[in-house]
Amino acid sequence: MAKTQRLDKVLSNMGYGTRREIKLFMKKNSVDVNGVHVKDGSVHVDPQEDVIKINGEKIHYRDVVYLMMNKPQGVISASFDPKVETVVDLVDETYRVFELFPVGRLDKDTEGLLILTNDGKLAHELLAPKKHVPKTYYARIEGRVTDDDGDAFQKGVTLDDGYVTQPSSLKILKSDEVSEIELTIYEGKFHQVKRMFEAVGKKVAYLKRISMGNLKLDPQLGLGEYRELTEGELQILVNR
Ligand code: URA
Repeated sequence: MAKTQRLDKVLSNMGYGTRREIKLFMKKNSVDVNGVHVKDGSVHVDPQEDVIKINGEKIHYRDVVYLMMNKPQGVISASFDPKVETVVDLVDETYRVFELFPVGRLDKDTEGLLILTNDGKLAHELLAPKKHVPKTYYARIEGRVTDDDGDAFQKGVTLDDGYVTQPSSLKILKSDEVSEIELTIYEGKFHQVKRMFEAVGKKVAYLKRISMGNLKLDPQLGLGEYRELTEGELQILVNR
């Protein structure tokens, strides 16, 4: 069934201004719907089906957006904060209209894969504890990480508040005074990776999320950079 909306609302959702600004915009610019010049913003259109052109250029309507960001340290995983810079502050103004939020949280000093979207349903699916979506982190650890730690994580360790973690899998990349590891967890407790290492007497010196579900952080993205997910990546995330 066609989902129609007022034309001025569609244009507003696309970032062309507030409904009031669109009135002026439509006076100054030529807006066509299916080849017919339209002056009245209150006409109803189906933005998925109807061909809407502005000054002869077809607009591509969407109401949901998915960004992959390589979160840098020093910004918080929130949409807005009066004092501290947030991940959403790093995103270009053209995306503001979508009211993006981060899917889950990375600590202020954690880097790596963060999805920003306005799709509340997908966010819920990815975060719901019952779904057990795997998240893999790369970390540098102060201290020699051993197979015993891997065994402990596989069984579950007791965190400082008494919570026993679900089984997780540890891959030791380098075992030395400073070790390098990858850890995959299937839940998302507060500071979980740091607290898991504390539980085995070690300290996380550096933490970066490298994947979520089957979606991997694009190595081309520098810290603080982001891009839209490709259709294929979105499918990976949806189907996990
Ligand atoms: N675990 C942590 O300790 N911190 C994060 O940011 C993510 C997982």
